[in-house]
Amino acid sequence: MINIAIDGPSGAGKSTVAKLIAAKLGITYLDTGAMYRACALYAVRNGVSVDDEEAVKKILPNIRISFTGEGESKKILLNGEDVSSAIREHYVSKAASDISKLPSVRDYLVAQQRKIASETDVVLDGRDITSNVLPHAEFKFFLTASADVRAMRRYKELIALGADIEFEKVKADIIDRDKNDSQRAYAPLVLTPDSTLIDSSDMSPEQVADLIISRVSDGRRGR
Ligand code: DC
Repeated sequence: MINIAIDGPSGAGKSTVAKLIAAKLGITYLDTGAMYRACALYAVRNGVSVDDEEAVKKILPNIRISFTGEGESKKILLNGEDVSSAIREHYVSKAASDISKLPSVRDYLVAQQRKIASETDVVLDGRDITSNVLPHAEFKFFLTASADVRAMRRYKELIALGADIEFEKVKADIIDRDKNDSQRAYAPLVLTPDSTLIDSSDMSPEQVADLIISRVSDGRRGR
């Protein structure tokens, strides 16, 4: 079984790179951030505060997340509804970061992520994959880039989705989210000593994917 774990802050290019790796190696891609986003979307839609642990805990059994399709046509389903676009809206990013602090939400999603990783060859990206979800994964990477580069990538994505937003706002929100994700008490974003650090500021997604694939191939040859 191959498990490739990639962590890093928002906008580091993790999901683009993970998708490329999955396509090139013919393995599954699991976007764990999308799972937190889907939980946040469900809470917001149902008027439940993403900071209220007790209230969120009660709705967790009503949240069924699944994936369908592969590659570019991969979709995330929330109780059977395709929410792939809805979870990318700007307000969902902050709500996802907030809901991801709650231990009950993390435990609920991490159990699902571990199950998928035990059954399939998979590349997963997120914040706590290398430290908490799969601490014993054979291949662990921490992908980052400067705040400016990450904010510009996110800004372009949002503009492409038709959002009316300023670059400075996107950058401030990214910095705020970095703080939220790395300073929370439960399973924060950390660089583990056994992860390979990659700074993608001056690299294309293809270059990063090829670098990771070459590390994986070397590792497998050395078994
Ligand atoms: O990667 P993303 O921006 O789609 O993730 C949305 C939020 O979910 C992010 O702010 C932090 C949280 N998250 C997490 O806590 N753990 C993960 N494994 C993935 C995402």
